[in-house]
Amino acid sequence: MPIITFRSTTTKDKRAYATAGDTGTILTVARANGVKIPFECQEGECGSCLIRVEYVEGKPRMAIALTEREKTKLKELGKITEEQITDAEVNDVAPPYRLACQFIAREEEVIIHYEHCPAEA
Ligand code: FES
Repeated sequence: MPIITFRSTTTKDKRAYATAGDTGTILTVARANGVKIPFECQEGECGSCLIRVEYVEGKPRMAIALTEREKTKLKELGKITEEQITDAEVNDVAPPYRLACQFIAREEEVIIHYEHCPAEA
Protein backbone atom coordinates (compact mmCIF):
# COMPACT_ATOMS: atom_id res chain seq x y z
CA MET A 1 0.00 0.00 0.00
CA PRO A 2 1.53 3.35 -0.98
CA ILE A 3 2.10 5.65 1.96
CA ILE A 4 2.12 9.26 0.87
CA THR A 5 3.04 12.16 3.10
CA PHE A 6 2.08 15.56 1.75
CA ARG A 7 4.32 18.36 2.98
CA SER A 8 4.31 22.10 2.31
CA THR A 9 5.92 25.04 4.04
CA THR A 10 2.57 26.44 5.15
CA THR A 11 0.60 23.43 6.37
CA LYS A 12 0.99 20.48 8.71
CA ASP A 13 2.03 17.17 7.16
CA LYS A 14 -0.84 15.06 5.93
CA ARG A 15 -0.39 11.32 5.58
CA ALA A 16 -2.48 9.33 3.11
CA TYR A 17 -2.68 5.69 2.19
CA ALA A 18 -3.53 4.94 -1.41
CA THR A 19 -5.31 1.70 -2.14
CA ALA A 20 -3.12 -1.02 -3.64
CA GLY A 21 -3.82 -1.29 -7.34
CA ASP A 22 -5.43 2.12 -7.38
CA THR A 23 -4.64 4.01 -10.56
CA GLY A 24 -5.31 7.44 -9.13
CA THR A 25 -2.69 10.11 -9.48
CA ILE A 26 -1.00 11.88 -6.59
CA LEU A 27 -3.29 14.81 -7.35
CA THR A 28 -6.35 12.56 -7.00
CA VAL A 29 -5.09 11.17 -3.69
CA ALA A 30 -4.31 14.68 -2.47
CA ARG A 31 -7.76 15.99 -3.28
CA ALA A 32 -9.44 12.96 -1.72
CA ASN A 33 -7.55 13.73 1.48
CA GLY A 34 -8.12 17.46 1.55
CA VAL A 35 -4.60 18.39 0.47
CA LYS A 36 -4.59 21.58 -1.58
CA ILE A 37 -2.02 21.02 -4.30
CA PRO A 38 -2.47 23.74 -6.93
CA PHE A 39 -3.68 22.48 -10.29
CA GLU A 40 -5.38 23.66 -13.46
CA CYS A 41 -5.47 21.41 -16.51
CA GLN A 42 -5.03 17.94 -14.96
CA GLU A 43 -3.60 16.93 -18.32
CA GLY A 44 0.12 17.44 -17.79
CA GLU A 45 0.17 20.65 -19.81
CA CYS A 46 0.14 23.64 -17.45
CA GLY A 47 2.73 22.61 -14.87
CA SER A 48 0.82 24.16 -11.97
CA CYS A 49 0.83 20.87 -10.03
CA LEU A 50 4.63 20.62 -9.89
CA ILE A 51 5.79 18.58 -6.90
CA ARG A 52 9.11 17.41 -5.54
CA VAL A 53 9.15 13.75 -4.65
CA GLU A 54 11.30 12.49 -1.80
CA TYR A 55 11.56 8.72 -1.55
CA VAL A 56 11.71 7.31 1.95
CA GLU A 57 15.04 5.64 2.55
CA GLY A 58 15.07 1.88 2.12
CA LYS A 59 11.68 1.71 0.43
CA PRO A 60 11.24 0.63 -3.20
CA ARG A 61 11.04 3.31 -5.90
CA MET A 62 8.41 2.16 -8.31
CA ALA A 63 6.40 4.97 -9.89
CA ILE A 64 9.07 6.13 -12.28
CA ALA A 65 7.33 6.00 -15.66
CA LEU A 66 6.75 9.50 -16.97
CA THR A 67 4.10 10.38 -19.51
CA GLU A 68 5.19 12.18 -22.68
CA ARG A 69 3.34 15.31 -21.58
CA GLU A 70 5.06 15.18 -18.22
CA LYS A 71 8.49 14.90 -19.79
CA THR A 72 7.75 17.83 -22.10
CA LYS A 73 6.41 20.11 -19.35
CA LEU A 74 9.16 19.25 -16.85
CA LYS A 75 11.76 20.01 -19.52
CA GLU A 76 10.06 23.36 -20.27
CA LEU A 77 10.11 24.18 -16.56
CA GLY A 78 13.78 23.24 -16.29
CA LYS A 79 12.95 20.55 -13.74
CA ILE A 80 14.28 17.53 -15.58
CA THR A 81 17.17 16.83 -17.93
CA GLU A 82 17.46 14.37 -20.79
CA GLU A 83 19.87 12.41 -18.62
CA GLN A 84 17.31 12.16 -15.82
CA ILE A 85 14.66 10.98 -18.28
CA THR A 86 17.00 8.31 -19.58
CA ASP A 87 17.93 7.32 -16.03
CA ALA A 88 14.25 7.00 -15.13
CA GLU A 89 13.42 4.92 -18.19
CA VAL A 90 16.51 2.75 -18.33
CA ASN A 91 17.81 2.55 -14.78
CA ASP A 92 14.69 3.15 -12.67
CA VAL A 93 16.27 6.22 -11.10
CA ALA A 94 13.47 8.48 -9.94
CA PRO A 95 13.67 12.13 -11.00
CA PRO A 96 13.19 14.65 -8.17
CA TYR A 97 10.34 16.59 -9.77
CA ARG A 98 7.03 15.29 -11.09
CA LEU A 99 3.59 16.55 -12.03
CA ALA A 100 1.00 15.51 -9.45
CA CYS A 101 -1.63 15.01 -12.14
CA GLN A 102 0.57 12.50 -13.98
CA PHE A 103 2.33 10.63 -11.19
CA ILE A 104 0.61 7.42 -10.08
CA ALA A 105 1.92 5.98 -6.83
CA ARG A 106 2.17 2.23 -6.70
CA GLU A 107 3.81 0.57 -3.68
CA GLU A 108 6.35 3.15 -2.67
CA GLU A 109 6.51 5.38 0.38
CA VAL A 110 7.05 8.99 -0.62
CA ILE A 111 7.01 12.51 0.75
CA ILE A 112 5.38 14.92 -1.66
CA HIS A 113 6.59 18.50 -1.34
CA TYR A 114 4.19 21.06 -2.77
CA GLU A 115 3.14 24.66 -2.48
CA HIS A 116 -0.12 25.10 -0.62
CA CYS A 117 -2.90 26.62 -2.70
CA PRO A 118 -4.51 29.28 -0.47
CA ALA A 119 -7.27 29.96 -2.99
CA GLU A 120 -8.75 26.56 -2.19
CA ALA A 121 -8.29 26.73 1.59
FE1 FES B 1 -1.76 21.03 -15.27
FE2 FES B 1 -0.91 19.02 -13.68
S1 FES B 1 -2.64 20.30 -13.45
S2 FES B 1 0.06 19.87 -15.43
